[in-house]
Amino acid sequence: MRKSPIIQLVLLGVVIGAAAMVAALAIPWLPDVGSKEARRVDDLYLLTSVICLVIFAIVAAASLYAVIKFRARPGDDEDGKPIHGHTGLEALWTAIPAALVTVIAIYSGIVLVKNEDAVPNHRVIEVKAVQFAWSFTYPDLGVTTGVLRVPVGEQVELQMESEDVIHSFWVPEWRLKQDVVPGITTRYLITPDKPGAFPVICTELCGLGHATMRTSAVVLSSAAFDAWIEEERQAASAGGTAQGERVFADQGCGSCHVLAAAGATGQVGPSLDETLPGLSADAIRQSIADPNAQIAPGFQPGVMPPDYGEKLSDEQLDALVQYLMDATKG
Ligand code: CUA
Repeated sequence: MRKSPIIQLVLLGVVIGAAAMVAALAIPWLPDVGSKEARRVDDLYLLTSVICLVIFAIVAAASLYAVIKFRARPGDDEDGKPIHGHTGLEALWTAIPAALVTVIAIYSGIVLVKNEDAVPNHRVIEVKAVQFAWSFTYPDLGVTTGVLRVPVGEQVELQMESEDVIHSFWVPEWRLKQDVVPGITTRYLITPDKPGAFPVICTELCGLGHATMRTSAVVLSSAAFDAWIEEERQAASAGGTAQGERVFADQGCGSCHVLAAAGATGQVGPSLDETLPGLSADAIRQSIADPNAQIAPGFQPGVMPPDYGEKLSDEQLDALVQYLMDATKG
């Protein structure tokens, strides 16, 4: 028994649509979801995907059906029938996409408004971007670190400034991206709702070391966050080697340098175990505060951020130098 063309078309559409649904939705294309804002973004993405999949199924089924059904048979070299369009059909396929795009626009607007809705008295963290590193300052705590730490379930606002060129702050699990532009302060509101360590990635090509401009965003329980703040305060008041060790870890020095004492294995810059022994405290201090003054053989100038001298207090710098001297004494 021959099926009617409409049933054949619908069957084709269902098969194609189902295959596309499996490819689009069953495979986890996106990273894990780590913030409230990310959940809203993903819902919008899902709605848009489903609309696209349905349209794809209809278009693909009609195309495939036409290719098979109306193909030129061998020996058939007649012209096709002249067709002058169909006003009703054209009105329909203009009206339906216009309505869908309007729905997506309204839904996007709602997501945007919700994601930018700041709760009163939220925590503010200052972010500095510089070729090629991130630093995070907790103004009410007087703590600056190279790794972003935030408590879970609490909205935080990053106030971001660049010291040189345009960078862009991105945590894939949080979904949102924001450019960091010299001369203005940009804002990034986020409510992390999943504990763990996530990558912070610069997504704006910003120079030679762009690919190395990465750090971590660590989402802690409220208790662990408070404990970390307390440790930072104690390390700062302890001074000396203990504080220096803390500064080395906080600033992420180990992601670029080898330092056996800290278990650091970074390969971007010179190994501290090899280059520091024999250097004076002043020379080490200069290498940190003015890294381009003297470049170790085999390395490029301009890769190490030039602003540690301003970012770190004198006390922090002294402590770091003392720690590095102790750690590389041999
Ligand atoms: Cu900063 Cu790329």
